[in-house]
Amino acid sequence: MIVDERITAYINSLDKELKKELLDLEKEALVNHVPIIKKETQGFLRFLLCMKQPKRILEVGTAIGFSALFMSEYTVDDCKITTIEKVKMRLVEAEKNFSNPIFSHKDKIKLLKGDASEVLKELVSKNLKYDFIFLDAAKAQYMNFLPDLMKLLDKQGVLITDNVLQDGTVTNSRYSVTRRDRTIHARMREYLYEITHMEELETTILPVGDGVSISYRI
Ligand SMILES: C[S@@+](CC[C@H](N)C(=O)[O-])C[C@H]1O[C@@H](n2cnc3c(N)ncnc32)[C@H](O)[C@@H]1O
Repeated sequence: MIVDERITAYINSLDKELKKELLDLEKEALVNHVPIIKKETQGFLRFLLCMKQPKRILEVGTAIGFSALFMSEYTVDDCKITTIEKVKMRLVEAEKNFSNPIFSHKDKIKLLKGDASEVLKELVSKNLKYDFIFLDAAKAQYMNFLPDLMKLLDKQGVLITDNVLQDGTVTNSRYSVTRRDRTIHARMREYLYEITHMEELETTILPVGDGVSISYRI
């Protein structure tokens, strides 16, 4: 937790209640230790979706489909959401959820199976463009994904990246980070430096959830 727990709890207490089916899915994810977007990230995402009204969303990192189903609730009827996942067990659960009729906007969602590093290249080769990209996968790979994500991100589109502050540890010196976490620490810093210094992007980083960056393509 990077923001004082009491402040986060207070802000979350003001958040809109999720629909029962999403609340149940959120509970299921938490019980099974599936990492999904935090409450405060949900509020932030909902606000951005409401402002931007995207028509073509790309998500990297489906898990069991919570965030994709969440986004399907807060987007216009003709919005399409493409989401990528590579882990078999998660794919099974995501497919089950995306075909469950209790989720009334599930038909907006298309699940692509495979490693994002390959799937993104296929999307690029098809010349596809997205006006809203939500990056929520393996943090160490964000930097590798970036060149393809930039090819896929439309002008005036937004790129949202979750978990960029890694519980605050990204601010620590590399020497105070355990050897095991050093690579991921360095790669996340490199990613944040890149997206805040690229000419094509205007980026801000917010201490929401585990840290969220929002980049607007100029
Ligand atoms: C934090 S979870 C996603 C949570 C989901 N966005 C939500 O909030 O409901 C990250 C997911 O990304 C997947 N992932 C990690 N690296 C990936 C890759 N290279 N290609 C596709 N999926 C990947 C993991 O298997 C995991 O399920």
